[in-house]
Amino acid sequence: MEQLFNAPECINKSFFQDGFCLKRGILHAKGSAWKSRRRQLDPAFRSKVLLSFIDTFNCVGNQLMHKFETELLGDDIKFDTLDEMFCRAVLEVSCQTTMGTETNFTAADTQGIAKTYSELMHISALRGTKPWLQVDLLFRLLDAKNYKRSQELMKHLEEFVMIMVQKKHAEWRKKYQNTPAEAQENTEAYNNNDIKMPEDNKNGRRIFIEQIFHMVDTGELRMEDVIDEALSMLMVSFETISTSVLVTVLLLGMHKDIQRKLREEIMVTFPLKSQIINIEPTKLLQMKYLDAIILEALRLLTTVPFNMRSVSKDFYLQLKTSCNIKRRVKVPKDTAIVLDVFNMQRDPKIWGEHAQEFHPEHFAAGTTGSFERHPYAFVPFAKGLRYCIGSRYSMYLAKIFLVKLIYNFEFSTPTKLSDLIFVNGISLKFDNSENIVLEIKKNNNA
Ligand code: HEM
Repeated sequence: MEQLFNAPECINKSFFQDGFCLKRGILHAKGSAWKSRRRQLDPAFRSKVLLSFIDTFNCVGNQLMHKFETELLGDDIKFDTLDEMFCRAVLEVSCQTTMGTETNFTAADTQGIAKTYSELMHISALRGTKPWLQVDLLFRLLDAKNYKRSQELMKHLEEFVMIMVQKKHAEWRKKYQNTPAEAQENTEAYNNNDIKMPEDNKNGRRIFIEQIFHMVDTGELRMEDVIDEALSMLMVSFETISTSVLVTVLLLGMHKDIQRKLREEIMVTFPLKSQIINIEPTKLLQMKYLDAIILEALRLLTTVPFNMRSVSKDFYLQLKTSCNIKRRVKVPKDTAIVLDVFNMQRDPKIWGEHAQEFHPEHFAAGTTGSFERHPYAFVPFAKGLRYCIGSRYSMYLAKIFLVKLIYNFEFSTPTKLSDLIFVNGISLKFDNSENIVLEIKKNNNA
């Protein structure tokens, strides 16, 4: 894993991902195009920027709590109902932080945007399991129904994003009629993490597209690139974060002792209810048990079960045999590589006797277990050259949602870990999700 994630010969995505619905933008960019796009987008995810989103995370989190309180209390709440709720809430956050637009998806997704994204991911996963369908022409000929549907869905999403991006750009231009010299100055300031904030941003929020608009003025990006990146950010963020929060809640519902211990940590960290409504990021840093729980959920039910790469040039892997003899193995150009994160993160040889259980102690501060764990044995956000640009964003948002949820509600489920049936897909899915139910009760001590 370490060598593959860090090899410059392995930065490109594989042929098996050609059928992914969104092929444009950073997610699928190749070679030097990827390098330059990554350099352009990295500053938009620095700490200062992420901290400017905390109010949005709190605000949407509070709307989600209201939704739970009014619609989701009781027995037999379907896993798929929760899935949809979390997707809508994360999509709302994502639209606000990416495009500065409030969509009110947590209350009602009248345009069906969350469903459109989900359906597109589903079709992409189907194409992924049938390599011949990666070729557009064959997809159109052999699976005309899904081909047509994916075109319609993509058009719907593109229009939704395009309208918001163009509106924001027009507003931005009114305020910042940049000369080429000013645009260049802004680009340099952005690269140094010093870009001036547009004045009307709520609470100084640093919206993703507004940070990269100045590159349209300098000609570094085209407007289509901004739209592609906005589409990608929505796509990658909403399913991944919502799945992580959902499976953590499910695991806590299966392990009520761990849930109770987490609730105690929350009560101690936030003695006043008002602190839960407005969670401060510094408080989150004190919550070691919460950290351990989220990391353990990302280990056991990892959201992106495997990563794929294509080899752009012959290279050599350095391996050690069981007798400690070193040898080199040639990996030829055009090899398709699958990095099986799901199974590695559950392997008892690496994780010990509790590998297949939900055991937050795997991440207890200062312990590595009875063996030294390799730093690449845990890679839910990938690692190396092409690691996830949104990992810290995700951790902040997941923590804020979970603190609010566990403070306000008690979760339980009759489903056991061994009942879960996994489906091959782009992100983690359960084949028997319609049979999973949760009981959600108000926490009377809140
Ligand atoms: C729990 C949530 C998330 C998980 C588990 C996750 C996981 C991953 C993984 C495993 C990759 C590498 C994929 C590969 O190489 O094939 C990746 C890449 C990426 N992620 Fe995330 N992600 C999460 C949330 C986010 C969010 C919130 C954003 C943006 C707001 C984001 C943006 C990206 C981007 C842009 C890439 C491509 C990076 C590149 O190619 O340079 N992710 N993510």
